[in-house]
Amino acid sequence: MASDGDLAIQAVLNELSERLESVLPTNIGFPAASDVDFGSLSGFFHRHLLNNLGDPFTAGAYPQHTKTMEVAAVTFVADLMRAPEGDRWGYITTGAGEGNLYALHLARGLHPRGIVYYSEAAHYSVDKALDLLAMPSIRVRADHSGRMDFEDFEAQVDRNRDRPVIVVANIGTTMTEAVDDVRTIHQILDSLAIRRRYVHADAALSGIPLALMDPQERPGFDFADGADSVIVSGHKFLGTPIPCGVVVVKASHCAHLTRTGGYTGSPDTTITCSRSGHAAMMIWYALCMHGIDGLRTRAEQARELAAYTHQQLVELGWDAWRNPYGFTVVLETPPPVVTQKWALASTHGRSHIICMPGVTREQIDNFMADLRVVADPVPVGARRQATHNGMAPVLRTATPATA
Ligand SMILES: Cc1ncc(COP(=O)(O)O)c(C=O)c1O
Repeated sequence: MASDGDLAIQAVLNELSERLESVLPTNIGFPAASDVDFGSLSGFFHRHLLNNLGDPFTAGAYPQHTKTMEVAAVTFVADLMRAPEGDRWGYITTGAGEGNLYALHLARGLHPRGIVYYSEAAHYSVDKALDLLAMPSIRVRADHSGRMDFEDFEAQVDRNRDRPVIVVANIGTTMTEAVDDVRTIHQILDSLAIRRRYVHADAALSGIPLALMDPQERPGFDFADGADSVIVSGHKFLGTPIPCGVVVVKASHCAHLTRTGGYTGSPDTTITCSRSGHAAMMIWYALCMHGIDGLRTRAEQARELAAYTHQQLVELGWDAWRNPYGFTVVLETPPPVVTQKWALASTHGRSHIICMPGVTREQIDNFMADLRVVADPVPVGARRQATHNGMAPVLRTATPATA
């Protein structure tokens, strides 16, 4: 018979489960794919501590790990990001924030006098990493679409030409999914004759979806385009139920960061010491289950749904906009009666819907039905004109994206 304690624990778990199920249908504002079933891995949660302590490429003394899967996942992502054969290394992080911290730590070791340039649209984890590492930095303006303002970037670098340049390029900003083209960054640095440079690509959300496109038809962001390191999240496009990420760097860059892990029997090359073996297993599983073709299909379907969502909003006369290739649709923040029901990320009068794999057309139609109730009863196009006066510039001036 179950004890009172058991019953109390079960009641808490049941309540949690109900709450999580109840928010699913209206959770369309955050970039977590929900179309992958990780149930086959549940057997590994019963009694094994899976700890990928130390370097993924050296098994080390602790026997319960998933480093073989970790290496396979890092290699998969390194191939996708066109990392140089024979000069690549990486590991599974706790998320993109740790990937940014690792990359900046690496860059600081290579260029101790470097200045970090990053756009005002960068994720707050970049500010945090700069703070922790005490690195000098310059926040560059972003344009109306969320992209780095390259004129401002050039002017800032020009003022500091005696210092090495470290750039954090956004490959899909958090709010608008804008991309800072890494090829353009290099052209600017070439034009200023800056030799000592390091470019990190924060590709948390968009790295894998963009990598599946023809490189000629998408912005530059990977190693072949000039990145020195790339981070992609595991819990965003790959939908892992535990937050994590894959950071990939040029192996030749990180020789100076290797410490011995002592009793662990594995070099201490990562930011944290103990690392989740479950996260590595989940990323590996998602990559294997989909393969390149499956991942590409998911990305294409997500873009199609984003185009559909954008179109629906435009037809309603609701201010909306989207960056090319993105899953993200930016819209004027709806009134509280809508935002209290729908989980949209909102700031400065703008919100976004992210059409991640797992978000359905039915959900979008349900959202639109709620929005129609509060939309002004004015002809299509007229409202758009009227609300523009009070809108944040990004919605007013950005060019509508192609599908
Ligand atoms: C562009 C970008 N970088 C970094 C992060 C931080 O990722 P994490 O929460 O996995 O640490 C996010 C999170 O949304 C992001 O959008």
